Amino acid sequence: MSELNELSEKLNGIKEEIRSELGKLESSKSVFEYRKKIFDSKTGMVGSLMREMGRIPNEMKAEYGKRVNEVKAWAQGVFEEMDEKFKAQEMRLKYESEKIDVTMPAKKPAMGYLHPNTLIREQIVDIFGSMGFDIYEGTEIETDHYNFTALNTPDDHPARDMQDTFYLSDKFLLRTQTSAGQIHVMEAKKPPIKIISPGKVFRSDDDATHSPMFSQMEGLVVDKGITLCDLKGMLDEFVKKIFGEGTSTRLRPSYFPFTEPSVEVDVSCFQCHGKGCKLCKGTGWIEVLGAGVVNKKVLEGCGIDSDIYSGFAFGIGIERIAMLKYGINNIKLLFESDMRVLEQIRE
Ligand code: PHE
Repeated sequence: MSELNELSEKLNGIKEEIRSELGKLESSKSVFEYRKKIFDSKTGMVGSLMREMGRIPNEMKAEYGKRVNEVKAWAQGVFEEMDEKFKAQEMRLKYESEKIDVTMPAKKPAMGYLHPNTLIREQIVDIFGSMGFDIYEGTEIETDHYNFTALNTPDDHPARDMQDTFYLSDKFLLRTQTSAGQIHVMEAKKPPIKIISPGKVFRSDDDATHSPMFSQMEGLVVDKGITLCDLKGMLDEFVKKIFGEGTSTRLRPSYFPFTEPSVEVDVSCFQCHGKGCKLCKGTGWIEVLGAGVVNKKVLEGCGIDSDIYSGFAFGIGIERIAMLKYGINNIKLLFESDMRVLEQIRE
């Protein structure tokens, strides 16, 4: 009996110690670690109790086992309880720290807008698209042949000086005009032809209104009976849609080797409506593009019979239109991506 009493005392002592130790624990992790420690089958004060079995007289073994199991079950129970308590507390703290204040004002997402060049290009494409024009996209690297010679501008032609060209080699260059696309189109397709061709062009030219890289929109119509009147009528429509209903165009004689006759096209000043202001330099008119009737030599060079077919072509400077329409006085502002400038232009 004395062994059993001794055991009871020892077990009570163990319970006491566990109780007082539990009071010091502060997290589910420390509960886990303490539990592991005392249940260790070799060294733990609960886990190693069964190793004592050998020392217990046979007739008491059953009782000993029962009491040890009771202590084990009790200890499991209190650990479980502590663990649950800490876990609940820890979850609460976690939720608290991750709490979202749904009444906080939301951050406004930064909205993107189309660049003025893109806006104008898309407007021009829409306008001519609605008139039935197809789009042809040429290449920025061209041969001297397509950019000049086939456009009735042979090697020694003085008109080559009108455009300061970036040559890549004797044969290749950065196209100076989207007009190069006219030749590709006329070689590939027989009339009726009705295309626009937007794209970047390059010239060694640099001041407030010129940039070494800028964008053009070429237009080409070839069919039977096409005249300068068709060009004028179509351009009137175009300027009304871009600059406003009250605007019209005026043609002035000009020179381009690939058109004959050639014209400079002015739009009536959309700011002062012809009275004369700073924008139109007091003239009531603003120059917007170059155009003309396709030179017979160019048609013939592309295998188009100029006795049957005729056409007109025009070249619009996209940045020029954007600068006029949005009141931008330096072309560089269109390439510098300064948000203070770009944010002012929305449509
Ligand atoms: N390619 C000419 C230029 O860049 C513009 C133009 C195009 C003129 C088509 C007439 C016809 O100056």
